[in-house]
Amino acid sequence: MCLPDNTVFSVKYLTLCKMRWGDNVAVSEEQRKPAHVVVIGNEKGGTGKSTIAMHMAVAFANAGGRVGVIDLDPRQRSVTRYVENRVETVRKTNIILPVPTVYTMAGDGIEELAELALAAIHNEDLLIIDTPGAATELSRAGHVFADTLITPLNDSFVDLDVLGRVEPETYRVLHPSHYAELVWDTRKERARQGRMPLRWFVLRNRLSHLDARNKRAMEDAISALAERIGFTPVAGLGERVIYRELFLSGLTLLDLRRPGVAIDLSVSHIAARQELRALFTAIGFTDVIPNS
Ligand SMILES: Nc1ncnc2c1ncn2[C@@H]1O[C@H](COP(=O)(O)OP(=O)(O)O)[C@@H](O)[C@H]1O
Ligand SMILES: [Mg+2]
Repeated sequence: MCLPDNTVFSVKYLTLCKMRWGDNVAVSEEQRKPAHVVVIGNEKGGTGKSTIAMHMAVAFANAGGRVGVIDLDPRQRSVTRYVENRVETVRKTNIILPVPTVYTMAGDGIEELAELALAAIHNEDLLIIDTPGAATELSRAGHVFADTLITPLNDSFVDLDVLGRVEPETYRVLHPSHYAELVWDTRKERARQGRMPLRWFVLRNRLSHLDARNKRAMEDAISALAERIGFTPVAGLGERVIYRELFLSGLTLLDLRRPGVAIDLSVSHIAARQELRALFTAIGFTDVIPNS
């Protein structure tokens, strides 16, 4: 049976699943490509970073990939707890769920992060680094590993300040923020190391009640910033209570069709899955979520 062993979770489990599903022939260690690294970051909490990290990890694991997650938020530990809740659900029920590997930091040393990241890059197909909503040294160090950076913003001018200051009337960019400078430094560091350019996506997340005029204003301001500091704007997820409800069971929107899951798939959940699929497609992860 394709069930995770209670101690060694995902790598072994996903390998077993890959063999069982027959969609991937075993690849020898020497032939393995290093993991693609996605960093989910900004310097503000509550924008949906950990929620997106978990959904991305599960989507990828469901598609048969090896996924690892590094949680750089020792205070909240949201993504770690999300995965722990998932493990608990697997233990308590008969629901079959792939579980992403969490690479846990024992302390907050940058050397330890480098060691964990290198191990994960070697072991996994995808490594997701979830960062705290604050400018810590560790978060800064985590950004250097990013091949793709995803910055979710709440859809408000308060959050836009995380990226740069814009003139209220014209949305002319006055100056980039500290975070935009951090990304700029990351880009320079990558170039110095001769690595591929960083792909940076900014998501307007938790889209909800803004009226049409305000939405338009946000779009204009984001376009101006995108051009100035060099990111691709992408539509994120809508504001929906389901995300809060799923956390405790460690489930994601992508698990609701699994046998044994006692949550009915509503119209709102299907719309949310479509948003997730559109988001992953926009950042280049096509076909990770099957059509509803
Ligand atoms: N699209 C969304 N709609 C509604 N609630 C959300 C959404 N995304 C995240 N949340 C909830 O908001 C809170 C903060 O989200 P989280 O992903 O932990 O943000 P961050 O990691 O940026 O601090 C959590 O309770 C989460 O369930
Ligand atoms: Mg978080």
